[in-house]
Amino acid sequence: MRRQALITGATRGIGFEIARQLALSGISTLLGARDEAKGVLATEKLAALNAVVTPVVLDVAATGIIPDRMIEIERNHGPIDILINNAGILIDTPRGFSSSLFDLSDETMRETWVTNVLGPTALTRALLPGMMARGYGRIVNVSSRAGQLSDMHFGFPAYRMSKSALNALTRISAAEAAAKAPSADIKINAACPGWVKTEMGGAGATRSVMEGAETPVWLAKLPAAGPTGGFFHDKSPVAW
Ligand SMILES: NC(=O)c1ccc[n+]([C@@H]2O[C@H](COP(=O)([O-])OP(=O)(O)OC[C@H]3O[C@@H](n4cnc5c(N)ncnc54)[C@H](OP(=O)(O)O)[C@@H]3O)[C@@H](O)[C@H]2O)c1
Repeated sequence: MRRQALITGATRGIGFEIARQLALSGISTLLGARDEAKGVLATEKLAALNAVVTPVVLDVAATGIIPDRMIEIERNHGPIDILINNAGILIDTPRGFSSSLFDLSDETMRETWVTNVLGPTALTRALLPGMMARGYGRIVNVSSRAGQLSDMHFGFPAYRMSKSALNALTRISAAEAAAKAPSADIKINAACPGWVKTEMGGAGATRSVMEGAETPVWLAKLPAAGPTGGFFHDKSPVAW
């Protein structure tokens, strides 16, 4: 059976590369973009790389309309079997380890929280019930080791807190799916792509988008015997 995936924030960076790899592996791929024109442009770029995807307009920060938007997208394109919560922002200022907790504004915290936490939560709530009912689903939360509580540091406070919360969402949703649909083949995991050369990661990053996308794509295609409720980097478990 041909599965269908939705990738949020796939106009560029890691999301774009995840869309490319999933489409080339034969998965029907919906490319999420908050800006329609950027979604069309990314779709054309992927077509030039022989990867056929369908653009869908989706602003993950517009959480109030996500339930209706998901109903509409599934009505138009069919059920979503694989959700990649990839869209994310890092707006702590000044950038880097000098962004102090004492510089953090409520606005930065709120904006980060809406995109990095409320969006993925709303999408999980909208799509997981259908996955449980159909007996199959994969959700990949593109997180970061910046959110690792076991190795927490200062710098990027809003971003770090948002990724810790995304990790919690991973655990909560995996546990709830296992309890409510024990016989369904549902896998919900978080992935850290590493430090990747994208607009967010910057030119000094050490990894290519191909390397960054590898673990999320692996989690998106896990077999029934695969893990759930885990946090992975380079296809290996890492501490929360
Ligand atoms: N790069 C790294 O080193 C690194 C490391 C660890 C984790 N990550 C995580 O990996 C994910 C992808 O990061 P990236 O490096 O590829 O970032 P990026 O190059 O900045 O791309 C971010 C993508 O998210 C989209 N986006 C932002 N807000 C959105 C919204 N409200 N609704 C829909 N789409 C939205 C952007 O769309 P527009 O084109 O419209 O702006 C863009 O397509 C993020 O969750 C990030 O936290 C990245």
